[in-house]
Amino acid sequence: MAKKTIIPYFLHGGDYNPEQWRDKPDILDEDMRLLKEAHCNSLTVGMFVWTSMETDDGVYDFSYMDHLMKTFEENGVQAILGTPSGAIPAWLAQKYPEVLRVDRGGRKNRYGSRHNHCYTSPVYRRKVREINTRLAERYKDSKALFMWHLSNEYGGECYCEACAAAFREWLKEKYRGDLQALNFHWSTMIWDHVYTDWEQIEPPFDHGHGFELPELILDWKRFVTHQTVDFMNDEAEPLRRITPNIPITTNLMGFYNGLDYRAMAKHLDIVSWDNYPTWHAPQGDIEVAVYAGMAHDLMRSLKKQSFMLMESTPSLVNWAGVNRLKAPGMHELSSLQAVAHGSDTVQYFQWRQCRGGIEKFHGAVVSHAGHANTRTFRDVSALGKRLEGLTELVGTETVSTAAMLYDWDCRWAFESSQGFNNRAKDIPGVMQDFYRVLWKHGIDTDIIGREQDFSPYRLLVLPEYFLADKALIDKLCAFVRGGGVVVASYLSGMVDEYNMTHTGGFPAGALKEVFGLWNEEADSLYESQSNRAVFPDGTENRVCEICEIVHPTTAQVLAVYGDGFYQGEPVLLSNAYGKGKAYYVASRGRELFENAMERAIADAGIANPYGAALPEGVTLHTRRDQSTVYVFLQNFTTETKTVDIGKRHPSVSVPEGTEVGQAVSLAGYETKILKFEQH
Ligand code: GLA
Ligand code: ZN
Repeated sequence: MAKKTIIPYFLHGGDYNPEQWRDKPDILDEDMRLLKEAHCNSLTVGMFVWTSMETDDGVYDFSYMDHLMKTFEENGVQAILGTPSGAIPAWLAQKYPEVLRVDRGGRKNRYGSRHNHCYTSPVYRRKVREINTRLAERYKDSKALFMWHLSNEYGGECYCEACAAAFREWLKEKYRGDLQALNFHWSTMIWDHVYTDWEQIEPPFDHGHGFELPELILDWKRFVTHQTVDFMNDEAEPLRRITPNIPITTNLMGFYNGLDYRAMAKHLDIVSWDNYPTWHAPQGDIEVAVYAGMAHDLMRSLKKQSFMLMESTPSLVNWAGVNRLKAPGMHELSSLQAVAHGSDTVQYFQWRQCRGGIEKFHGAVVSHAGHANTRTFRDVSALGKRLEGLTELVGTETVSTAAMLYDWDCRWAFESSQGFNNRAKDIPGVMQDFYRVLWKHGIDTDIIGREQDFSPYRLLVLPEYFLADKALIDKLCAFVRGGGVVVASYLSGMVDEYNMTHTGGFPAGALKEVFGLWNEEADSLYESQSNRAVFPDGTENRVCEICEIVHPTTAQVLAVYGDGFYQGEPVLLSNAYGKGKAYYVASRGRELFENAMERAIADAGIANPYGAALPEGVTLHTRRDQSTVYVFLQNFTTETKTVDIGKRHPSVSVPEGTEVGQAVSLAGYETKILKFEQH
């Protein structure tokens, strides 16, 4: 396991928008001073400042950016230089209105706000390439230039004529010019959507009644990813050419549903992402931590290498309706959570709080007070100091024995297919209910796509994995046959890669043998309704949303429904298949999922490296290099907790190197980092 990283030490810093302080030029020097005091070493600049560099079409003036980059160089700041494509300059939109997006209703957007550009527009692409070329030429030798940050949170859709035409071209290529094949896979005979000419195909405009073809929607969403990635590569081209040694990233958004990040990540040197968990929300910090942990795992698993926490708030956000402050201790805990899951950076939105604009009340390291004497500043500075002692961890890897399957196109297929229960169309929520069990055990988990390699894992979880193509079916058969353990939920393997149903009973094809059952019907319950999963020992779990009626062929029934006309029918089943085992959970319920997962974890023989039973609210994650295992113990409660790490791996604390006893005590919100040598 060689360290694969492009980051030499923990980056600590954030987005910086000094353009709003140009009437107070001294602020830059003051920020350089404060940056050191905060133990920060990196700033992200350049996003949303196009007009400060190109004041009118072809009129460039880089004096502002020159000054920034020079100041960073003098102060040893690692600059993450953003490309400005995320916000269209007003002059550009005025001169070339075609660059503005068209929405799903067919309405052309007027100028205003960010993220409002058409990603197909040849003019916009040209203008972006031009400014990026100049940026790369100008700063290619700057010692401050550490990394490129493409645009900002790519996302959204455009329904303009140029995008529609590009969609048709993409379809022609996908279906190799065979319109009949498209008609077949899209089931266009239904409601007479039969296309006789490619030009008739429209993007899935909103017709006001939600009856757009699900197969068309699925291809459209794939196209949106394709086109956005194409735009991204287009703007990255001059950067790659002129500065081949400078890595490129863009800030992703976790479970954001608009883009297939797995497809996008292939074109990035490192994954970075923006994480804004709702700490202290009514569901409680543990739940928030479970979700955030899962999102970190998703981001790390895109490239299966350490990533960057590109944005997080040092205190609060401004956009959440209710915006809670991070209570004392939460800043360190949540930042180190990212590190525990594989991040090599802790970065913020933002360094200095905006004086105006939409985000003027968003938290920042330097608040409106303008000095270092604030709780947030002290928290940031203390964390920076701690990160400085952790350099040995940078680039270390996560080796997971469990994985969950999540694919964007699977989610799109499910969400676009009418039926079942709209509340069930919450794949990340269902995943969270499975993931929580792994989190409680401190078992490192990857969140992978169906095309990724299954062989490193002993346990594979399929939460509402609706779409199964032939390759997936074969892979799952081989995985379980070879000794792997699988847990799948209801509504698994319903459609193929075109979003057409599998016939002959669900789950698809040979998965019926893997799970030893077939699924005849799916009942869906109202929010106020539930059923019960009843175990032979009389234990009962509440289940809800979807209740499938399944028939075991070879599977063993572990629990049955307690109510309704399908009372007594199986709700939890397991099946021995080859050398492995497959669990099928036919309804939704936290405890039911937990029951299935506990059995599967035991069958798979996986555990955290200490084999430690973790107290409520405490989790464990590891990172490792060739010889050392780093263990993060994190307490997401406000009470002191003790973890018995046993005798198997005597450990020392990092960075102190002092030996810890068997009973490791964690204060409320505390993170302890330990390490041991592995042989
Ligand atoms: C996003 C954006 C930032 C900023 C933050 C605020 O992540 O990338 O520019 O708007 O949200 O939380
Ligand atoms: Zn467009």
